[in-house]
Amino acid sequence: MAFREYRIGCWMFGFALSLSMFVTIILPGLDISSMSSTKIALEKQLTYGWETGFNYYDPFLQGKDKPVKVVLTKDPMTGKAIDKTDAFVFPAGTHFPSGLTHDGILGDDVQKASEELGKIGQADEAQGGVFLVRSTADDVPYIEFATATKGWTADATLKAADEKLLAGSGKTMFVREGCWWCHTLLPEQTQDWQSFGRPPLVGDFNGESPTTFGSDRKAPDLLHVGSRNSSREWMVMHFFNPRLVQPHSIMPRYDYLWGDVDADGNAVDLPGWDEKYLAYARGESIYPPAVPMPAADSEARKLIDFVINLK
Ligand code: HEC
Repeated sequence: MAFREYRIGCWMFGFALSLSMFVTIILPGLDISSMSSTKIALEKQLTYGWETGFNYYDPFLQGKDKPVKVVLTKDPMTGKAIDKTDAFVFPAGTHFPSGLTHDGILGDDVQKASEELGKIGQADEAQGGVFLVRSTADDVPYIEFATATKGWTADATLKAADEKLLAGSGKTMFVREGCWWCHTLLPEQTQDWQSFGRPPLVGDFNGESPTTFGSDRKAPDLLHVGSRNSSREWMVMHFFNPRLVQPHSIMPRYDYLWGDVDADGNAVDLPGWDEKYLAYARGESIYPPAVPMPAADSEARKLIDFVINLK
């Protein structure tokens, strides 16, 4: 009985497995670490935080452990007017995106500028803080840790905010609800860009997990949807029931994301709403019932913030 054939087979199998692991894991790793983050990648990392898919800190995908994106028109500490600025607030204990905790994600030049000019080395997850995205004179984007450079604390910044976008938590809703079964976040370099906007560039995805490209598109690409439709009222109606605004839409209703109470503190009664709507459709009442506005901490509000922030 000759075992030689088996041995050759084992060596061949081992070689093929190692080679494919090398090609799929090591090679792209080398390539990715040499790729600098674009400004978009930095904004995405700071908007979404560490991980918006399943993770041990948020096992039921409720949008926990996420930063808040705010729009400022005054300095949170001095109250003086400043140019409209997006800031990213990480309350104490919120996990930082991997670009802040691992070398080699931001790209060498972005990392250097973020450390030297942006003082990101001083940031600490346990303390939290506020971050900004800036560019150097040579147009290298970098992250600035505004808590070190300007003394902006998380609490003061949240208080001074003109607008708060819960887009990080909203991305978790997007993943959990499976919007990516129908929608992509990836216009392609075909005639696609004419309707859905600029395709992403290499470097736009550094440190983002998951990327939610989607796979097989049954509905419009959403990468730039906030640029073509930024109406919250439209989004509220469309998520409550897409057929209210697009009569033949195949998109499911997401009215259960409203939770128990609406923005005015009234109970959300979905079966009751349907009954009133059907009565209107039968011509028994003159007006359709109003769509309730989602409460400030509802999942619907988080999802809408995510969608509107896709510019
Ligand atoms: C069964 C497939 C399907 C699923 C799942 C789905 N959608 Fe849609 N969506 C559509 C279709 C089809 C349209 C176009 C018709 C319309 O506007 O309803 C659309 C339209 C939209 C639009 C408007 C797009 C534009 O170009 O203005 C937004 C925003 C949107 N969907 C967001 C979502 C989000 C967020 C989710 C997950 C909570 C989701 N959709 C889940 C099929 C789907």
